[in-house]
Amino acid sequence: MDYSDYAAIYDAEYAGYDDDVAFYLSWAQKAHPPVLELGCGTGRILLPLADHGVEMWGLDNCSAMLERARAKLSSRPLETRRRVTLVEQDMTSFRLNRKFGLIYLPFREFMHLTRVDQQLACLHAIRRHLCRDGRLLINVYDVDLVTLVHSRQAADPVLYRQPGGDYLDEQGRQVLLCSASRYDPEQQCLFEERFYETIGPGGQILERRFVRLSQRWFFRWEMVHLLSRSGFKVEQLLGGYFGERYSGLGQEMIFVARLRPRRSWSSVGSMVRS
Ligand SMILES: C[S@@+](CC[C@H](N)C(=O)[O-])C[C@H]1O[C@@H](n2cnc3c(N)ncnc32)[C@H](O)[C@@H]1O
Repeated sequence: MDYSDYAAIYDAEYAGYDDDVAFYLSWAQKAHPPVLELGCGTGRILLPLADHGVEMWGLDNCSAMLERARAKLSSRPLETRRRVTLVEQDMTSFRLNRKFGLIYLPFREFMHLTRVDQQLACLHAIRRHLCRDGRLLINVYDVDLVTLVHSRQAADPVLYRQPGGDYLDEQGRQVLLCSASRYDPEQQCLFEERFYETIGPGGQILERRFVRLSQRWFFRWEMVHLLSRSGFKVEQLLGGYFGERYSGLGQEMIFVARLRPRRSWSSVGSMVRS
């Protein structure tokens, strides 16, 4: 998934969003350093963790997103800058020549890997880079089956205002966000088109932007099997960033996994305790 078109607007759109930062910080502070974020983007999570003293590596395949992260990092104190390493690589094939005590994929990054070979390649790359007693955190979300069924009944994707989606851009101008989503149950993919309109004081449209996103949705046990097949054991499944128990449909899913010894890979018993 190419985020080049998104880089200019990403930080303004998510300026008010930090629900997940304390969650990753608490895991990072317990982990053996360094910590690796896959798909670190503009550093929304990575930079606050480094500010709090965590030695951070961030990996992303989009140079425009990383450029933003580097610009924000350059205005941080020297101690923070020394703690951060940013690399432009793909999460399905990365090689960093070192091991990490914690590797995490926040904000549904794993869902950008729409093909099974990409998902397995990513998990194998993670396996090569995780310390023996390290932890892997993967956040994806449950597909909302009601929305899925409704979208299948509509002839065309409906353009709708995203609840809570409007925001102010970096110059304080109002941006309205509408999107059209198409669910493809055969591919298990959501294709979303986002239309951003920047509105002037007289109501005129000053700027229009367009971003296309594709996300593969995962079911709970599908994730458990993928992880197990790649040599991980799922220790916990959380339903949110505040320690919520996973209870079913339409929720965040955060898988907490660790490496399994190679000889036990084929055993899928006790893959997850719910
Ligand atoms: C939703 S953004 C999240 C950025 C950041 N982690 C955050 O929470 O704000 C997803 C990021 O994943 C990156 N990404 C998508 N596919 C990738 C891949 N195959 N390899 C590396 N990065 C990827 C994108 O470039 C983008 O920066």
